[in-house]
Amino acid sequence: MPHKIGIIGAGGIGSIHAAILAKDARVTLHRFFDVEAARAQGMAARFGGRTAGTLEELFAECDAIYVCTPNTTHAEIATQVLEAGKHIFCEKPFALNLESARKLRDRALRSGRVYQVGHNRRFAPVYKTLKGAIDRNELRPLSVHAKMNRGELVNPPWVWNASLTGGFLYETPVHMFDLMTFFFGKVDWVEVAARAHEHGELDDFSILIGFQSGLQATMKTFAHASWHFPFERFEVYGMHSTYETFEMERISFTNGLETRTNAYDFSLAPMAEKWGYIEEDRLFVDALEGKSPAPVTAEDGYNVVELIEACYSSARKGARVHLGTLVK
Ligand SMILES: NC(=O)c1ccc[n+]([C@@H]2O[C@H](COP(=O)([O-])OP(=O)(O)OC[C@H]3O[C@@H](n4cnc5c(N)ncnc54)[C@H](O)[C@@H]3O)[C@@H](O)[C@H]2O)c1
Repeated sequence: MPHKIGIIGAGGIGSIHAAILAKDARVTLHRFFDVEAARAQGMAARFGGRTAGTLEELFAECDAIYVCTPNTTHAEIATQVLEAGKHIFCEKPFALNLESARKLRDRALRSGRVYQVGHNRRFAPVYKTLKGAIDRNELRPLSVHAKMNRGELVNPPWVWNASLTGGFLYETPVHMFDLMTFFFGKVDWVEVAARAHEHGELDDFSILIGFQSGLQATMKTFAHASWHFPFERFEVYGMHSTYETFEMERISFTNGLETRTNAYDFSLAPMAEKWGYIEEDRLFVDALEGKSPAPVTAEDGYNVVELIEACYSSARKGARVHLGTLVK
């Protein structure tokens, strides 16, 4: 019997997941719920299945739930999903403060249900290539620099509003923090300087990250650039080796001093593949089938929230902050 999927939040990312899941014979798109009922109806008309009038009805009818609602709602809705005993895929960010992240992580661990966080970039071919090189010891990172910028905090119209996003770092930069831990392991401390340029909220960060391994990384993330490509980039340096990513389009690398540079270009791949959405959804269904554990766990989600909270704390104090010392 196919797993019955319910989707909460029939907006942009909900539609991307639905379009991918609609092609997986192991699941059926069964129920849709949105506070704007017409949106849920639109998804049901497009993908089959029906709308649910309430969350309770959705939970009663489905085995696994996708939470694709705005950032501020994730922890609360995810808690309800777990209380209903359902498996869950919840979009990033995991939560918007340490206390709710800890409660949700503990609840997820106790539940025995599949809990996957939507950190899709782990499955983007560019980043899988980089991770593979690290795992195979072809690249032993000694220095790292990363950046993620936006052109503005104007579009969509709520994106400057920290009470809706949780803060600039919880928006798109959240992906870079997840990748930092995915590639380089546990973080020991951060030192951060930050400024506010346009909307009163901190939107320009200079971040120094110390990993437990001893590796140090720098990261710039800010909102006031133009939309000049690339918006995101990792530069990872080993002993006489360089790996450089260009968005999720391309990765180039040189291993050695007098050798060629290799490049993989994924720019012509469909966006859902290039950004990792297809693989993250396939792996979620694999986890539902018991084939493999969820690849991005509640613990991973918690670690990213802890890292972001440490960055805000360091920016406020103007001092180095060790993870694990934040008030919980
Ligand atoms: N992983 C990624 O690459 C990625 C990409 C885009 C968005 N996201 C995340 O996905 C989430 C949704 O983003 P989006 O771009 O799809 O937004 P969106 O505004 O297009 O869609 C959100 C939908 O949720 C509905 N909604 C709001 N509150 C609700 C509630 N309490 N219950 C049910 N429905 C509710 C809205 O009516 C809307 O239809 C955000 O948290 C965002 O950060 C992740």
